[in-house]
Amino acid sequence: MRLQSGVSVAAFAAAASARSLSDVCTLSNVKSALPANGTLLGINLDSSASIASVVYNATVGGGMDASSTSDSETYNYCNVTLTYTHPGKGDTVVVRYALPEPSDFNKRFYVAGGGGYSLSSDATGGLEYGAVGGASSAGYDALNGVSYDDVVLFGNGSLNWDATYMFGYQALGEMTQLGKYFTKGFYGMNSKSKLYTYYEGCSDGGREGMSQVQRWGDEYDGVITGAPAFRYGQQQTQHIFSSVVEKTLDYYPPPCELAKIVNATIAACDPLDGRTDGVISRTDLCKLNFNMSSIVGEEYYCAAETATSLGFGFSKTKRQAAGSTTSYEPTQSGKVSAEGVAVAQAIYDGLHDSKGERAYLSWQIGSELSDAETEWNNSTQKWELDITSMGGEYVAKFVQLLDLDNLSTLDGVTYDTVVEWMDIAMNRYFDSLQTTIPDLTKFQESGGKLLHYHGESDPSIPAASSVHYWQSVRDIMYPGVSSKESLSKLQDWYQFYLIPGAAHCGTNTLQPGPYPEDNMEIMINWVEKGVKPSRLNATVSSGTYDGETQMLCQWPTRPLWHSNSTFDCVHDKKSIESWTYEFPAFKVPVY
Ligand SMILES: *[C@@H]1O[C@H](CO)[C@@H](O)[C@H](O)[C@H]1NC(C)=O
Ligand SMILES: *[C@@H]1O[C@H](CO)[C@@H](O)[C@H](O)[C@H]1NC(C)=O
Ligand SMILES: *[C@@H]1O[C@H](CO)[C@@H](O)[C@H](O)[C@H]1NC(C)=O
Ligand SMILES: *[C@@H]1O[C@H](CO)[C@@H](O)[C@H](O)[C@H]1NC(C)=O
Ligand SMILES: *[C@@H]1O[C@H](CO)[C@@H](O)[C@H](O)[C@H]1NC(C)=O
Ligand SMILES: *[C@@H]1O[C@H](CO)[C@@H](O)[C@H](O)[C@H]1NC(C)=O
Ligand SMILES: *[C@@H]1O[C@H](CO)[C@@H](O)[C@H](O)[C@H]1NC(C)=O
Ligand SMILES: *[C@@H]1O[C@H](CO)[C@@H](O)[C@H](O)[C@H]1NC(C)=O
Ligand SMILES: *[C@@H]1O[C@H](CO)[C@@H](O)[C@H](O)[C@H]1NC(C)=O
Ligand SMILES: *[C@@H]1O[C@H](CO)[C@@H](O)[C@H](O)[C@H]1NC(C)=O
Ligand SMILES: *[C@@H]1O[C@H](CO)[C@@H](O)[C@H](O)[C@H]1NC(C)=O
Repeated sequence: MRLQSGVSVAAFAAAASARSLSDVCTLSNVKSALPANGTLLGINLDSSASIASVVYNATVGGGMDASSTSDSETYNYCNVTLTYTHPGKGDTVVVRYALPEPSDFNKRFYVAGGGGYSLSSDATGGLEYGAVGGASSAGYDALNGVSYDDVVLFGNGSLNWDATYMFGYQALGEMTQLGKYFTKGFYGMNSKSKLYTYYEGCSDGGREGMSQVQRWGDEYDGVITGAPAFRYGQQQTQHIFSSVVEKTLDYYPPPCELAKIVNATIAACDPLDGRTDGVISRTDLCKLNFNMSSIVGEEYYCAAETATSLGFGFSKTKRQAAGSTTSYEPTQSGKVSAEGVAVAQAIYDGLHDSKGERAYLSWQIGSELSDAETEWNNSTQKWELDITSMGGEYVAKFVQLLDLDNLSTLDGVTYDTVVEWMDIAMNRYFDSLQTTIPDLTKFQESGGKLLHYHGESDPSIPAASSVHYWQSVRDIMYPGVSSKESLSKLQDWYQFYLIPGAAHCGTNTLQPGPYPEDNMEIMINWVEKGVKPSRLNATVSSGTYDGETQMLCQWPTRPLWHSNSTFDCVHDKKSIESWTYEFPAFKVPVY
């Protein structure tokens, strides 16, 4: 689907479109559009290293929206590579831009987020919107697939801070600043005329988007962030939590038992939202009203299989974590045990220290327990601890500063140890990766719009993690005003939506719920035409209600079905309280 610009086409565009792509996609036009050294503070261009070439009939990756994957359209664009250095530093940063044909250019700039430990290396995501897109090497060859976790340590105990800041927020901010300046010159736009600037990403891409809102707020007009992997110190360490629960309770549940607990929870809580459709649209009601002990004694069965276990944590499709293995699993059958339920309950309850003080929130009840998966040992014929690589690698590299891909053991590790790891990581990366600065004044004052969403049953990044940030922004930016006033002011520019049943940055095989497909269209209308959304358009793509459109409730309202076809968005104080956390295990505020 190609979006036509609804905005009036200025005279300049008519002039520009008279020129063809090959007219503008020349080295001399590229060089004439570059900022002289000193124009953009901290960015010195080596203009002799610029490269430009036309790419014809390209099929492009497209943005995050599901609808764009069916986009069969092809594009011609100018493929530009620029090289800059930070003055006095001697480093080299390569940035790539994809610039649409002058006749397709809608005065837009588009930045796509990456995932896992990778920035996006694809600059073409904006073409379907008539936007210039960009991507950065971040100074560590990210355009050629080098991942940040591969370069975060020079060696044991020796952190690569340059890569950390570049990955954290700087690479994208500089790429956008330079790209916007360059775009205007390239198409002959007046330097003061508006170039609508968008960001879209999920998972670490969501975190990257938040980093831009927090650090480069006046550069962006519309930012869409899904399931952000922010509050990095807590979030990444959290991937070890499920294993620590199993070790602490000394029970290693067969994966089938945990799957049964999840399935039975979904079945029990599905109707609480007023409609029986296989989806827990109100995990809060499930948390408040469902006693998981009632599952004890239910039978489970799973056939033997040879399975590939992925390193869970980020998008399973985007990056298969190093160390994923193919393993044999025997037939599993039995009855759900009290121990199994205790493990699941402790995981959903979240991390507390030995004084009982809460350190972090957790996945919503009914989310898959991916991090808790155990491993079959064929010689002992037992299920054993399987430390997820995402959590293990993070603790080894980022906390312990050891150049290892995994933690080999949890010997001596307690809940207090996990709290300590979070504390170390939060403090060490406070101004680089934590990405939870709650003061967004600059973004708001320059007219920025933020659309933030999160799958309610995300098994990787807890949905409550997003709720907590939204609450922090509201509290910090609107102190001392009525709750009604702060809500209405915030929703004018920052809207948050939970996606019922959805998993991590996508639909959930266990719950056939809705998923948004046209976020960019909504955002463009908001930014360029002033059409402020109040609900989020999402479509069901499987199950009984396949094809149904649901206009999702904006947080803090919650859905309540009153027939099989309609729901209301209700205010429910008790529900909201169940999503509200404090973290007394840390001595500093955790936003
Ligand atoms: C700008 O700075 C870069 C890097 O220091 C240098 O290579 C280049 O020659 C400078 N350009 C000009 C026009 O001085
Ligand atoms: C691009 O596709 C069009 C339509 O199929 C075709 O006419 C044209 O020759 C192609 N251009 C190149 C450079 O392949
Ligand atoms: C864009 O240009 C760069 C630098 O020359 C090149 O490495 C890359 O393959 C080009 N991309 C396409 C799609 O042609
Ligand atoms: C880094 O530390 C780990 C753990 O102590 C050790 O196994 C590894 O050999 C060390 N690497 C180097 C290059 O010294
Ligand atoms: C859980 O439900 C899914 C489908 O919803 C099914 O494929 C799976 O076999 C179930 N697992 C167990 C253990 O019942
Ligand atoms: C849940 O049920 C168990 C077993 O019936 C009971 O011991 C426990 O107190 C209940 N928990 C709550 C919170 O009601
Ligand atoms: C299986 O258990 C044996 C005996 O405890 C142990 O030596 C072996 O390392 C285990 N295998 C795996 C893959 O963990
Ligand atoms: C596991 O052990 C059983 C015997 O206990 C053996 O029959 C089977 O081949 C083993 N499977 C694998 C994958 O090693
Ligand atoms: C990480 O180490 C644990 C413990 O040795 C092991 O069970 C697990 O399979 C490893 N994970 C990966 C992805 O290597
Ligand atoms: C919702 O999104 C779908 C898929 O993009 C679209 O077909 C439909 O028109 C949208 N509905 C509304 C009310 O915006
Ligand atoms: C709603 O759908 C369920 C099946 O999912 C059905 O049993 C029930 O009768 C329906 N209710 C109405 C009012 O149509």
